[in-house]
Amino acid sequence: MNQATIDRSAAWTRLAEHAEEMRRRHLRELFTDASRGEVFTRQAAGLTLDLSKQRWNGQTLELLLSLAREAGVPEGIRALLSGEHVNVSEDRPALHTALRLPPEASLVVDGEDVVPGVHETLDRMATMVERFHTRQWRGATGRPIHDVVNLGVGGSDLGPLMVTHALADCRPRDAHHVDVHFASTMDGSQLVDYLARFNPETTLFVISSKSFTTIDTLSNARTARDWLLARLVEDGIQGVDEEMVMRQHFIGVSAKPDKMSEWGIAESNQLLFWEWVGGRYSLWGGIGLPIALVIGMAHFRDLLAGAHAMDRHFEQAALGDNLPVLLALAGIWNVNFLDIRAHSILPYDGRLEYFAAYLEQLEMESNGKSATHDGHQVSYSTCPVLWGQLGPNAQHAFYQLLHQGTQPVVCDFIAPLRRYDDVEDAATRDHLKAQHRLTLANCFAQSRLLMLGDDAIDEPGERPGHKRYRGNQPTTTLLLDRLTPATLGALIALYEHKVFVQATIWGINSFDQWGVELGKQIAGETERILAEHRGHEAMDASTRALIEAVWRMEKE
Ligand code: F6P
Repeated sequence: MNQATIDRSAAWTRLAEHAEEMRRRHLRELFTDASRGEVFTRQAAGLTLDLSKQRWNGQTLELLLSLAREAGVPEGIRALLSGEHVNVSEDRPALHTALRLPPEASLVVDGEDVVPGVHETLDRMATMVERFHTRQWRGATGRPIHDVVNLGVGGSDLGPLMVTHALADCRPRDAHHVDVHFASTMDGSQLVDYLARFNPETTLFVISSKSFTTIDTLSNARTARDWLLARLVEDGIQGVDEEMVMRQHFIGVSAKPDKMSEWGIAESNQLLFWEWVGGRYSLWGGIGLPIALVIGMAHFRDLLAGAHAMDRHFEQAALGDNLPVLLALAGIWNVNFLDIRAHSILPYDGRLEYFAAYLEQLEMESNGKSATHDGHQVSYSTCPVLWGQLGPNAQHAFYQLLHQGTQPVVCDFIAPLRRYDDVEDAATRDHLKAQHRLTLANCFAQSRLLMLGDDAIDEPGERPGHKRYRGNQPTTTLLLDRLTPATLGALIALYEHKVFVQATIWGINSFDQWGVELGKQIAGETERILAEHRGHEAMDASTRALIEAVWRMEKE
């Protein structure tokens, strides 16, 4: 099937006809079938995916599976996992799955087995992590490093930030003296706070950038380097020189060793990864160093193993039992056939605070596209607008819109079944378990209310308009047995593969991001104009006035 014409395929046409009927049906009606919960629930890799509250039925799913076959999803999965050049615009594979292959595996890509290199990097990471945890990694004055600041943005920030936060309670005892922090914003607002508080003698910066050209990261890195040099070298601490500062206070993670060396990162402090790992898919290797520093290398390997279990499931399960495929098809159904173009991610676990932000990049930078592989413009919708927040907090913020607004929105509810078993103090454990039960009750109540609307409670009499709930908002519930490195790895891999399946159906390339390039170029030109105080004459009236406001301020 030519992807640009997927909306002219037989399966698409049948789905469009079927949607006419399904649009008229309310979810509460679909739930008259008592087996529905079971029929639309699947499990794999420690995750339970309940898709029964989607506005679909058995026939919908059959038709969607035909669409997936017609669009070449099985072939696409094979191509992705075997290292074919699925990133067509950049003519390379997208092999994040290779980063979680076990050491005994082999994957020959473009004539080379990539697995030994992957494990060599993991072993180098392990050595680094051990040096921090055993207090052997010392700053230029001989004191052990206490604060590690990751300087990166996008995929070089969001994945490590999300996972370190989610798994902080797995921190092994020997990691307790190392604190990991993140600075991503180009304006320096996070960094300035760290520089005010941290001791330069015990602070190390990890510069994480696949390209090692990202201005946001390099600006933060330059400020950090000058801060260290000013405090440790220019202030004249005896015996400390620039070379020592660079060697003992900076690590670089990138696919560009030359650029790292040019910047001054010692070769022994460079962790490399490959062009075939996309930035937003890169937390599984060197970019994951901050994660490994917090949770330890053993847990980091569990994270990889969990993701690998999901990869195997993705590869082997039949389409109708395949969690990423099913999650993707629910999305296609909502976007393309029910016209639901807003998608909210709602974890019911404070540890997943950054999960929505992580998925915003994963999904929207991957699939927020309108050109197919062969350059045609699509004539159907692709990635929905995706946003989210911790569910319990969002209940006090934007759930009003979900329940009574005018927008149809699909929501993913995510929660661990078990929590707090290992809290030592019995009374505290009981309180915390009760809080967890309360949280689950809220999670389940919200998705039920979104589904049933007014029918969720049995109350006699007519309600006034402002107290009505129309319901019929589709939701997915994802339960993790517990939130562990392995289940988190599986959860992330589930969404990565979902994104790929959707892209395969839409005929777009998930693995490039040309849409962000022009903005960078224009920002560079604007910066030059701001600095040189000239050259804005040909610009639009609004931008000219904004630039002049800066110039006026600079003259004051
Ligand atoms: O500008 C977008 C982007 O390229 C993302 O895709 C990427 O994750 C981020 O910038 C950071 O890129 P790098 O790791 O090369 O600094």
